[in-house]
Amino acid sequence: MAGWSGNWRIASIETRRGAPLAAADRLDVRPIGAGTVEAQGGAAVWTLAGTASNVRYAERREITELRSRQAPLGRDEARRAALIPIRKSAAWWELAQDERRAIFEETSHHTRIGMEYLPAVALQLYHCRDLGEPFDFLTWFEYAAEDAAAFEDLVRRLRETAEWTYVDREVDIRLVRPA
Ligand code: HEM
Repeated sequence: MAGWSGNWRIASIETRRGAPLAAADRLDVRPIGAGTVEAQGGAAVWTLAGTASNVRYAERREITELRSRQAPLGRDEARRAALIPIRKSAAWWELAQDERRAIFEETSHHTRIGMEYLPAVALQLYHCRDLGEPFDFLTWFEYAAEDAAAFEDLVRRLRETAEWTYVDREVDIRLVRPA
């Protein structure tokens, strides 16, 4: 869990879609079990949990390429982070697995776009839909200050995709770790 733990200062909380999260100035992230983490905003203003899970959509060649390009969490120079909790609509979850994969990759090119930003951006996806949480995913990204503009470019491109028409709640939390 290196990197995805410890204390971060919350630089901003922007509600992109759906219900907001209350304002908080600090984010504490800690492991609470095998592969499971808890992110707590402020003095327990809100708490979100998610589990690192198996891959759903990535195909063998994509997994191989991701592994060869990905940077680890917890790099010293990665003093910026983003925690973006996301929920997808009932319409998304009613689709079949092959229909979701087609929207995710063949139409929206999520992995192909994301790959362009590796290894500058390190990432970890946590699933929380089956934990009875308010979001379906906690997405976590770490990057250096000089890659902040590239990260903005990445989120802008993903939010323009067909996949994002199924996102019905999204809160974008930006974090800073002092040197
Ligand atoms: C840094 C570059 C990125 C790469 C390489 C990347 C890659 C991936 C891959 C391969 C998956 C599929 C995992 C699976 O097979 O289950 C995935 C899922 C996901 N990613 Fe990204 N991603 C990136 C950036 C982002 C960003 C910036 C966001 C949010 C703004 C995001 C949100 C998500 C979500 C919500 C899922 C789960 C989708 C679902 O299961 O329905 N990703 N990503």
